Amino acid sequence: MRAAVGIALNGLVGLAAAGNASSQFDWTTIAPSKHLEYHDCFDGFKCARLIAPLDYRNASDPRTIALAMIKLPAVVPDDDAAFAGPVFTNPGGPGGSGVESLLSGGKGLRDVLDKPGRRHYEIVSFDPRGIGSSTPRANCFAHDTLGRDAALLELRGRGPLDGGALPYVLALQKAIGRRCQDADESGVNGGQILGYMGTPNVARDMVHMVDKIAELRAREADARDARFELKRRRSYEDVDTDDGDDVPRLQYVGYSYGTVLGNYFASMFPGRVGRLMLDGVVNAKDYSSGPGWLTNLRDTDELADRFFTGCHLAGPENCALARENDAAVKGRFYEWLGKLDEEPISAVSPTGAVVVISSQDIREMLGQALYTPRDSFRGFAKAVDDAMKGNSSAIVERLFARQIPSLKDACEVDGGAVAFFQEAGAGVLCADGDDVSGLNATWWKHYIRRQVGTSTVFGAYWSNIRMACNAWNFNFRPNWVFKGPFTTPPAAYSAAGKPLAGHPAAPILFVSNRLDPVTPLAAARAMAAQHPGAGLLIAEAFGHCAMGNGESACLHKHIADYFDTGVVPDGEAVCEADCGPWDEECDTVGAQVIHQENRGYHRKYPLGIF
Ligand SMILES: *[C@@H]1O[C@H](CO)[C@@H](O)[C@H](O)[C@H]1NC(C)=O
Ligand SMILES: *[C@@H]1O[C@H](CO)[C@@H](O)[C@H](O)[C@H]1NC(C)=O
Ligand SMILES: *[C@@H]1O[C@H](CO)[C@@H](O)[C@H](O)[C@H]1NC(C)=O
Ligand SMILES: *[C@@H]1O[C@H](CO)[C@@H](O)[C@H](O)[C@H]1NC(C)=O
Repeated sequence: MRAAVGIALNGLVGLAAAGNASSQFDWTTIAPSKHLEYHDCFDGFKCARLIAPLDYRNASDPRTIALAMIKLPAVVPDDDAAFAGPVFTNPGGPGGSGVESLLSGGKGLRDVLDKPGRRHYEIVSFDPRGIGSSTPRANCFAHDTLGRDAALLELRGRGPLDGGALPYVLALQKAIGRRCQDADESGVNGGQILGYMGTPNVARDMVHMVDKIAELRAREADARDARFELKRRRSYEDVDTDDGDDVPRLQYVGYSYGTVLGNYFASMFPGRVGRLMLDGVVNAKDYSSGPGWLTNLRDTDELADRFFTGCHLAGPENCALARENDAAVKGRFYEWLGKLDEEPISAVSPTGAVVVISSQDIREMLGQALYTPRDSFRGFAKAVDDAMKGNSSAIVERLFARQIPSLKDACEVDGGAVAFFQEAGAGVLCADGDDVSGLNATWWKHYIRRQVGTSTVFGAYWSNIRMACNAWNFNFRPNWVFKGPFTTPPAAYSAAGKPLAGHPAAPILFVSNRLDPVTPLAAARAMAAQHPGAGLLIAEAFGHCAMGNGESACLHKHIADYFDTGVVPDGEAVCEADCGPWDEECDTVGAQVIHQENRGYHRKYPLGIF
């Protein structure tokens, strides 16, 4: 699998033929349907292609999309008393495939949420519109993987943005934006999508899916002949005169950008909130307004410092960069980066590709390692230590896993059945953010300076994300924008105990690690403060998102209880993590919720769990 780090149309990110899993099922064998129809798929999963309007804002627009949905069934039948309904998930990105993430992490999440014999959930996810196996798909380089790879290599070759690359990069991105516009208009992807990918549409799609699931359940109940009369009588008795309502509600777990989606959903459709757990919290205001993406890196450099000090404490047997009686791991690392600025490493990959490794590559690799300390710190330390000693093969392997298109698959049409396209991410985030198209190099220089001022490790890389929008909104005016306020009315109930119409059924549960490289605790606090009654669960752990990094019995219990009762911590609660970043032998409790092979460096999305 080739993988990429970013979403942006820039050279620092590669692109990937995405998860192998997705290519093992041919979605075209399912005919899209207006009503939800599940089909067997993969191994033990159910898949559907659900038709939804392309433009909810224009009732006379007949165009539709087909959402790729996937379900991991509950361990009990739907009519079991312990069946607790669907929990939706989103893995972040933006641009990430819910299908892919459910295949790898759905079972682990179900294990965490289920209360055996009492509550059993089905886990549902979907590829958001324009992404993965949903159609039409955002793809600016249809049938031309080589063209895409060439553009990415050219961008990468210009060097970091805080060097002299800026005017060239801006111009190249404009050309790519033009190509996206041509592709979208030509029909090569089966219809237009790039102007309709913003998060308000995705939140509305979730309302649509929740309704269709409820409709399917009602249909199936009707079909159970024996129970038909009983059910009718029961629902007749249920008709109450108080203000409670029976509208289907969303149960949801969102990671990273998925917290943006959850926050939009709650703020736009508060009366549809059942349970919402948001882990790895993005500041939705910063994401949607102003220059954008300026608050993510607040803790990144501090976390990097913890890598260096932790390395020394862990000692040479655990961290290859450590030296007995020499605490200056960080000093030696940056001294070496200084040398790379004078003389970058020249290398040849095992497949014969030539590659130059700059200090910026290493900085980005460090930033990537901070997402998943337990999976990455040892390997990153070893790779860097090897390179310092003259063996760069592990560094090269990481670069090709993530930052450099390998060209190996470039002659395949679209590089596989389901490819990851960074324009999918740009389609979402550029539509959601303020229009930054056409701003000049002076403006961007200032923007980059601010990012680097916040984080020397990751600031230059992070600037690419918004810069991809330089050529974007200009071409695709988003059909639907939402700028907040990101707030909800308090959860409220009728005398009969039903959630009131227009109110959430429970407050939102926010979750954050103590130190997160791209979604700092401060963002979780800021977002929680705006939702009355919200609770914040803090894991004493490092890394991006608590699930997958800060796991503990304490964390899992809080989460399962929340889905059961709707009760959140009063203000903040803290959970210790069961494993630290340098613990070698350490089994976390419960299931691995977020399991990715080689997670440490096969990372694709800046705000996602893979
Ligand atoms: C992808 O799956 C195919 C068969 O389904 C397998 O042959 C191939 O090795 C897999 N590739 C990766 C990178 O896992
Ligand atoms: C709504 O859709 C119709 C049919 O496609 C189109 O003619 C019209 O221009 C659209 N209206 C807006 C405001 O986009
Ligand atoms: C370089 O490191 C790799 C591991 O990444 C190892 O397999 C290889 O043998 C090393 N090469 C030399 C010349 O030491
Ligand atoms: C860039 O745009 C700003 C206004 O946003 C303007 O003040 C400045 O002069 C421009 N710089 C150049 C070099 O054109």
